[in-house]
Amino acid sequence: MTDHRTPLDSVLETVGETPLVRVQAAPDEVPVYAKLETFNPGASVKDRIGKYMVEQMLERGELEPGGTVIEPTAGNTGIGFAIAAQQLGVDAVFVVPERFSVEKQQLMSALGAEVINTPTDEGMGGAIDRAHELAAELDDAVVPQQFGNPLNVEAHYETTGPEIFEALDGEVGAVVAGCGTAGTLMGIAKYALEQDEDTYVAAVEPEGSLYSETKGEDAEEADYKIEGIGTHDPDTNELFEPDLVDEILQVPDRRAHDELKRLASEEGHLVASSSGAASAAARHVAEQIRDGEGDAPHDTVVTVFADSSERYLSKGIYRSFEEWEG
Ligand SMILES: Cc1ncc(COP(=O)(O)O)c(C=O)c1O
Repeated sequence: MTDHRTPLDSVLETVGETPLVRVQAAPDEVPVYAKLETFNPGASVKDRIGKYMVEQMLERGELEPGGTVIEPTAGNTGIGFAIAAQQLGVDAVFVVPERFSVEKQQLMSALGAEVINTPTDEGMGGAIDRAHELAAELDDAVVPQQFGNPLNVEAHYETTGPEIFEALDGEVGAVVAGCGTAGTLMGIAKYALEQDEDTYVAAVEPEGSLYSETKGEDAEEADYKIEGIGTHDPDTNELFEPDLVDEILQVPDRRAHDELKRLASEEGHLVASSSGAASAAARHVAEQIRDGEGDAPHDTVVTVFADSSERYLSKGIYRSFEEWEG
């Protein structure tokens, strides 16, 4: 995102520098601010890693000009990579488990990418394996592999973190964000902890996800409707560093759904289920700090609204909890 005063050559130049907006339902004594990643051209936080990783791989010679990127994704990463690939003269192929939203798959195709589906029951692990198989069949193909690539974390350490600290003049008490690959939270947390080692860091996952196992906690695995965050196999999520995190908050699907609907009807935010989960968790942390039950260097909490609800309308995201397919 840039200002309106400067004409630009590419939509790619509008990635990042997104607004930070107060969540009005949070306590006044400990305000919660949300980073609106829906303001990116592909309407999700993943535009940042799409741009950063393709640029870095071209610069480092890991990807040839005119080469091909093949990536396993739930969709948002595919959209972010598709925009970057198109604008930087690279072909794009995305491997997507069937259960993920058709809107995202249609948007990737519209951006000129090829979409290949894998069975839902093989999970993201199946998509990762298929992406590597496809890359092995081509000479000029690379798999950026967001789940294990440090560039994913670097993109947020270099952009999202500094933007947040600039907006709040360094007064950031806690960082609370959902974890899919965990690149967003790890990048922001690394930057934040460099500014102040007492910054409170909380990871957010759906109830039924297993990230909390990495902190030695018992976690009960179950399916969940929330899309974009959580894991059924923490070994897949190589970027997640439990030592950087003070706590892992589990948010039930119903709580996330109630909050995303409230954010739309009361605060004008058209955001999706991982944002609902993040907002609910961030408000909880703010209330803890207000009530003297949480320790943070400043009375402020920052979270991330990762993507827009528009790409889940076909799943009934604004219908009743029972009708919402997730
Ligand atoms: C909707 C949504 N929310 C949150 C995230 C989490 O971002 P990260 O992978 O950086 O943890 C993702 C990642 O794909 C996402 O698509």
